[in-house]
Amino acid sequence: MKDIIIKRYTFNRLTKSIKEKLRQGVLLNFPDVEVFKTRFYYQIPPNFMFIAWHKGGIVGQRYLTTKVRPIDGKKYKVAGIGITISKEFQGKGLGKELTKEVLRFIQNSDYDFVMATTSNKIAIHVLNKFGFTKLKRKITYKDIKTRKIITEDETVMVKDFQDNRLIKEIEKSKKPIYMGVGVW
Ligand SMILES: CC(C)(COP(=O)(O)OP(=O)(O)OC[C@H]1O[C@@H](n2cnc3c(N)ncnc32)[C@H](O)[C@@H]1OP(=O)(O)O)[C@@H](O)C(=O)NCCC(=O)NCCS
Repeated sequence: MKDIIIKRYTFNRLTKSIKEKLRQGVLLNFPDVEVFKTRFYYQIPPNFMFIAWHKGGIVGQRYLTTKVRPIDGKKYKVAGIGITISKEFQGKGLGKELTKEVLRFIQNSDYDFVMATTSNKIAIHVLNKFGFTKLKRKITYKDIKTRKIITEDETVMVKDFQDNRLIKEIEKSKKPIYMGVGVW
């Protein structure tokens, strides 16, 4: 972790050159995802980016996208998070460090809970370490391009900051949670 600095940016503070570095970083880990050929986020521009810099290059990135969604008639402010670490910096503790930073920020803001969708076993392991649990309800969203309703097939990991009491409350219903237009 020597010489690595983590900085938080709002989306509007990202310069063209930073956005391009982010895009190249994510494309290297996900070469088959078509949208990463033109931009660094999947469907919705993130509200915040937590960027790990090393000697002028980006070696890790954590996204934070905010959604306010009704669930069972109540409105919740949800923090959607995602992560990519450059191949040569994986397995050195940076994923945990970026997760710690983003969670500290979320906990000090007014989010109700945090959500991540992934099939990556190591990413799930990291989230478990930070108190995330697998959501027992399905989530759905409207795909930005096709406008079709998609059921998320990756594992959905969630955490609140009240020993997951809110999550347990939300899990009392079995109905899918609709996340609106775009997943993250
Ligand atoms: C998944 C990912 C974010 C993890 O970040 P990382 O910086 O490599 O992970 P860390 O070094 O912080 O390690 C976190 C934990 O995972 C374990 N781990 C890391 N790499 C591992 C590997 N290759 N095999 C098994 N365990 C591994 C570490 O031992 C550590 O666990 P511990 O604290 O119990 O010892 C990163 O590898 C990555 O970006 N992968 C590719 C992109 C991706 O799939 N992102 C997730 C999409 S949501």
